[in-house]
Amino acid sequence: MKRKKAEDARADLGGKPVGASRSEMTEIVLPAQTNPLGKLLGGHVMHLVDMAAAMAAHRHSGSYVVTASVDHIDFRNPVSLGEIVILKSQVNRVFHTSLEVGVEVYSENVLTGEKKHTTTAYVTFVAIDEHTRLPKPVPPLIVNTEEEKKRFREAGKRRKLRLALRYGKK
Ligand SMILES: CC(C)(COP(=O)(O)OP(=O)(O)OC[C@H]1O[C@@H](n2cnc3c(N)ncnc32)[C@H](O)[C@@H]1OP(=O)(O)O)[C@@H](O)C(=O)NCCC(=O)NCCS
Repeated sequence: MKRKKAEDARADLGGKPVGASRSEMTEIVLPAQTNPLGKLLGGHVMHLVDMAAAMAAHRHSGSYVVTASVDHIDFRNPVSLGEIVILKSQVNRVFHTSLEVGVEVYSENVLTGEKKHTTTAYVTFVAIDEHTRLPKPVPPLIVNTEEEKKRFREAGKRRKLRLALRYGKK
């Protein structure tokens, strides 16, 4: 019954398409953000991932959000000093008060224009009511393309794993 009420409240919010909250962030890699080998620090990439993901989550939910979980992150290619780091984020799926955002990170060499994929990360946010500070329902996500539908399905599988880790297997 409680879940039914939450679903009704969510439906009242009206859906938003994926494109409405898709976000992009770019930054040039400076010496203060690099290790002694001149490569962008992993911790800085994680910070940028959180920021880029939060932009899409804020835009979609139209509310404050907090990070509930970040799936494992691996770094496939380093980003070097002087390169441009590009982060692309989009909402993959909305659950009830939470939503999953996917972030892809690329490096761009300013001299050659070569782009390399560095990281893919999945970040889950919970929308928070500004007055009660409690989780609040998020508007449904409208998925149109085959790619958006695939991301939607895969986000469901990842959520099962996350919740099993957080709350234990049910
Ligand atoms: C995230 C947080 C709000 C969840 O609170 P909670 O009391 O566990 O709330 P609930 O059990 O009602 O869960 C709320 C939602 O979070 C989801 N959730 C909680 N933990 C999760 C996790 N590890 N992974 C994915 N989703 C999670 C729940 O599934 C639920 O989503 P749904 O409504 O879409 O089904 C709370 O743990 C918190 O405030 N954590 C700290 C957040 C923070 O400070 N982040 C860093 C700075 S922004």
